[in-house]
Amino acid sequence: MHNFSIVEKSDSIPKTRISGKVIHGNQIGRTIGFPTANLLLHEEVFLPKGVYGVHVTYQNQLYYGLMNVGVRPTVNKEEIIIHYEVHIFDFDQMIYDEELDVEVCHFVREEQLFSSMKHLVLQIRKDVETVQRVFHLEQPAILKREFKPSSEEYIHLTDLAFIQLCEGKHGINRGVYNTIDNWIYNQGIKNILERRRLLLAFLESIRDHENSRKKFGPGGLRPKLEEFFFGKVEEKTASNL
Ligand SMILES: Cc1cc2nc3c(=O)[nH]c(=O)nc-3n(C[C@H](O)[C@H](O)[C@H](O)COP(=O)(O)O)c2cc1C
Repeated sequence: MHNFSIVEKSDSIPKTRISGKVIHGNQIGRTIGFPTANLLLHEEVFLPKGVYGVHVTYQNQLYYGLMNVGVRPTVNKEEIIIHYEVHIFDFDQMIYDEELDVEVCHFVREEQLFSSMKHLVLQIRKDVETVQRVFHLEQPAILKREFKPSSEEYIHLTDLAFIQLCEGKHGINRGVYNTIDNWIYNQGIKNILERRRLLLAFLESIRDHENSRKKFGPGGLRPKLEEFFFGKVEEKTASNL
């Protein structure tokens, strides 16, 4: 019996679900920046060798990642055993002996023999980008540059204390606070601490005199936010319209 179910066809690969126990690998993955969970499958699966974009379920949480199915010729040319190893995005937990469920979503490429580990790493970086695009996990544009406020310790305050800090220290009222926070949220930043970090960086950038109430002209906040986070946009003059 095989424990795979064909859910739908995608890139001519049947969607396959596999599950297994995480076992020890050679630990090379960690040293090259791509730690992998090596799976001992509970049942045989028919999945062609290659690299796949996957959904991973661990303790009822859904993660995204990449799975390599193959003999890993770059590591060992003589290998004949097929390995199933999953690199999970944004995941850093020790999960040896734990159970993982993997849903194979799409085929990325064939497994290849690289002339060095460095070439393999460069390729895996491209694989990560490919899969993040397919899963729509690209970094929000607002995070393309790094914005760090000088007063990062404040981001861990309670909601009320944080808002009061913004009012007292940066002279904005609750309405302005909400407008900025909503604007940042709409750029794709769902994480509250990340939003607070960006909000503080913005407030520090527009700070003039201590405790002066901020007034935003008829143009309002939006152009100021866009200018700070995305850079100044050249004004179009009538002649080049
Ligand atoms: C996304 C991904 C793609 C991979 N592609 C290849 C490949 O094309 N050729 C190859 O020889 N090994 C490939 N590997 C396997 C790596 O060589 C292996 O993960 C690494 O050596 C770490 O193994 P370890 O966890 O057992 O130490 C890939 C691994 C991952 C996670």
